Amino acid sequence: MGDVIESKLNETRVFQPPIDFAQKSNIDKDELDNLREWVKKDYEGFWRHFALKKIEWFKPFKKVLDDSNSPFYKFFEDGELNVSYNCLDRHLKTWRKNKAAIIWESENGNTRIMTYQELYIEVNKFANVLKTLGVKKGDRIVIYMPMIPEAAVAMFACTRIGAVHSVVFGGFSAESLRDRIEDAKPKVVITADGGYRNGKSIPLKSRVDNAVNGIEHKVDYIVTIRHIDRDVHMKPLRDFWYHDLMSDEDYASIYCEPERMNAEDPLFILYTSGSTGKPKGIVHSTAGYLLWTMLTMKWVFDIKDEDTFWCTADIGWITGHSYTVYGPLAMGSTSVMYEGVPTYPTPAKWWELVEKHSINVLYTAPTAIRALMRLGNDWVAKHNLSSLRLLGTVGEPINPEAWMWYYRYIGNENCPIVDTWWQTETGGHMITTVPGVLPAKPGSAGQPLPGIFAEVVDNEGNPVNNPDKGGFLVITKPWPSMLRTIWGDDTRYKETYWSRFNGKYYFAGDGARKDEDDYIWIMGRVDDVLNVSGHRIGTMEVESALVSHECVVEAAVVGRPDEITGEAIVAFVVLKDSADKTRHDELVRELREHVQKEIGSIAKPQEIIFTDSLPKTRSGKIMRRLLKDIAAGNEIKQDISTLEDATVLDKLKELREKMENGNGD
Ligand code: PRX
Repeated sequence: MGDVIESKLNETRVFQPPIDFAQKSNIDKDELDNLREWVKKDYEGFWRHFALKKIEWFKPFKKVLDDSNSPFYKFFEDGELNVSYNCLDRHLKTWRKNKAAIIWESENGNTRIMTYQELYIEVNKFANVLKTLGVKKGDRIVIYMPMIPEAAVAMFACTRIGAVHSVVFGGFSAESLRDRIEDAKPKVVITADGGYRNGKSIPLKSRVDNAVNGIEHKVDYIVTIRHIDRDVHMKPLRDFWYHDLMSDEDYASIYCEPERMNAEDPLFILYTSGSTGKPKGIVHSTAGYLLWTMLTMKWVFDIKDEDTFWCTADIGWITGHSYTVYGPLAMGSTSVMYEGVPTYPTPAKWWELVEKHSINVLYTAPTAIRALMRLGNDWVAKHNLSSLRLLGTVGEPINPEAWMWYYRYIGNENCPIVDTWWQTETGGHMITTVPGVLPAKPGSAGQPLPGIFAEVVDNEGNPVNNPDKGGFLVITKPWPSMLRTIWGDDTRYKETYWSRFNGKYYFAGDGARKDEDDYIWIMGRVDDVLNVSGHRIGTMEVESALVSHECVVEAAVVGRPDEITGEAIVAFVVLKDSADKTRHDELVRELREHVQKEIGSIAKPQEIIFTDSLPKTRSGKIMRRLLKDIAAGNEIKQDISTLEDATVLDKLKELREKMENGNGD
């Protein structure tokens, strides 16, 4: 492997689309140029055309954009539609009726295939079940499930009756789930007895029990899917088995009329971390979101009817929403769902899946690529990956070494790679390369897609026109799949995304630079948000979790570059006087477990450093940037004149050195 990992010197390389791919691609250069010109000249006409063409409306809209109450933009607001109808019913009128909609596989090799017709029936029945349980349009439903087809069934059943789902990642703890339940106030929680991950079973239902235990908001019903045959507690009149409800003809009749939803009705809430406070519930709309997932499937993933498409993300993240469920199914595509991790039972599992299901388009994250790259090429070489024709990445900047490995060993130098920059808030891809037209530069996401207006600006909001200079990445015009607000908190929505540039631009926290070809290079978050394995974790959340431990007075959390996860969490912790400091190792273990319990294992600090005090400014603000340098073992080049007590720094450096030498206690 060593001989092929290109060094940073090769970052200037440019990879043209393979000729064969370009010849068959969904859009060519002229079309891309035309789209860009069109949207510049006639912004509303462009969106009108695609919204009418791509979506099957119950009542077509007249008005494209209402920007009278910015930043609360509305798109297609007088139109009516239903997302489950668009993803299911309309395919039944075509040959796709018996096409595989979902191909599911688990770690132990169990496979299920659901055709569009089968999925449609299951969704209709479950939509009726939800209705019988009293769920009405606008009610919230929390979905806390493993990666199984029923998770998609539950999402579509919600959209069919106009309920707003909030999927919570199955790796989150009972406490995190409780926070989200308290915020979204669902009538029903849908879960499973458990799921499998890395050969272990995950106790989902019992975590739901803990989450709802003693909370103020009353969840009326908990519906549980039997998946791993784990013993669970079922509370009479509150808890029901999915299979019991689905086999009851009164509850689960076979057709459910799709609710006529307004284009601007909320489709779902998805919680994501911010730099301050509790996770925020990102609200997506019905029509705008659907439209953009479809267009990006076509333009970026170049999707064709014969493709088998695999996005490896869990449905608990936006990537799973947009590119495992809504985008592929709205396009009538075949979407692969895998329940498990890439390296279990062996590091060849993913490649086995590619071969077995003849996957054509693969979309994953740099952290997975790096982890698999490290395990060597032998695992890859065992399998025939020639079905692949396009590769994608998302979640964090991909380092050129990982890009090259992906390109060479997974794509056999035959598949373009789309590096897609986007966010929970943006609903779908924003910046990337249209694969049949634009060359790829390892490490750069590419250019804004047609319809997306992105810019790199300085502190004052002026464009930075210097390829060597970084700035803030902003979106300068609204777009249909943008978030509409933060659930229950319009003020926080305005403050978080729109206050940085006085309401003029959308800003969600990334630094970037733009090169001479207008390619954007993402430089990472500029706020207090960490990116661990492509997942956003707010420093505040981890700090609050640490401080909630009885031994902790104060904590500061920073990220340190990590080869596999991108960033690793390092926590600086001040203990209470009463804490027994001789229990160093035990305390570290306890605190890590405590964070896992409060948030989930993705937020567990990799390292905990105990200190007597934290470096602070005279106004009491923790100087995290200094801590970041200390955590990474970098020299401190920043101005430290604002420090309240400069000796803190020396002590911390001393401590760090001691730890590196292996005697941190
Ligand atoms: O910092 C950027 C990074 O991930 C953030 C969004 O995180 P989340 O909402 O969890 O969504 C992840 C999946 C869409 C961004 O603000 N990010 C995402 N994709 C890329 C990226 N950074 C660089 N390159 C990317 N392709």
